Amino acid sequence: MIAHLELEGAEKVYGTAVRTYALKATTLTIPRGELVVILGPSGSGKTTLLNLVGGLDRPSAGRVAVGGQDLQGLSDDALCAYRREKVGFVFQFFNLIPSLTAWENVAFAAELTGGTEGVDGLLGAVGLGDLGDRFPSELSGGQQQRVAIARALAKRPELLLCDEPTGALDEESGRQVLGLLESAARDGGRTVLVVTHNPTFAAMADRVIRLRDGGVVGVERNDAPQAAHAVAW
Ligand SMILES: Nc1ncnc2c1ncn2[C@@H]1O[C@H](COP(=O)(O)OP(=O)(O)OP(=O)(O)O)[C@@H](O)[C@H]1O
Ligand SMILES: [Mg+2]
Repeated sequence: MIAHLELEGAEKVYGTAVRTYALKATTLTIPRGELVVILGPSGSGKTTLLNLVGGLDRPSAGRVAVGGQDLQGLSDDALCAYRREKVGFVFQFFNLIPSLTAWENVAFAAELTGGTEGVDGLLGAVGLGDLGDRFPSELSGGQQQRVAIARALAKRPELLLCDEPTGALDEESGRQVLGLLESAARDGGRTVLVVTHNPTFAAMADRVIRLRDGGVVGVERNDAPQAAHAVAW
């Protein structure tokens, strides 16, 4: 197995007098192209784990490597370049730029890495080919989240990190979003990490990581993941 993500004793500690272990020493290996679901109660360290892998934060100790590159030693500029070039982020509350249309939101990200030729195709792929001219306020929650995914994919990231991407969505919209994340991993060869509170999503993952109180309490490999559309909500 060629590792895409590697954590070796990676931990995140806040505070000095009173130390809070947001993530206790964690060792994980994840191969390229997997769809990984991260489960755990509120405060268990899920976002902390994504932030370390995505270079939004640095470990207090230990090693975090992506594609063979160690992140913990990078300069601020190099870490910023890593995020820009390698990582797509999708958050619970969309974070679209309200004054830009759907098309412009995606184009904004696409411009960072090349050009805007692919924007129409990306919007089409998320089922919004006809709605590129709408502003976020003119789109439903599920549609906004699909724009956010198109935007995250616009720079062709090797890693897609999603923090509760379906948390604000109804069942049908959530299922569509999961289907897109699934094809980003299966067809796009990307490593996709999805944080969720919904344990039913575990059925579609190649791998499930369970966190509790800042520690990994289980990693399961699933040899026969279900298609997203078949997952019971
Ligand atoms: N900047 C910070 N300063 C101090 N403690 C923090 C900070 N960020 C996170 N923590 C703590 O670290 C722990 C893990 O937080 P994290 O955000 O990773 O949890 P989570 O699993 O994503 O929770 P949720 O499901 O509620 O989003 C929590 O106890 C949290 O209070
Ligand atoms: Mg969180």
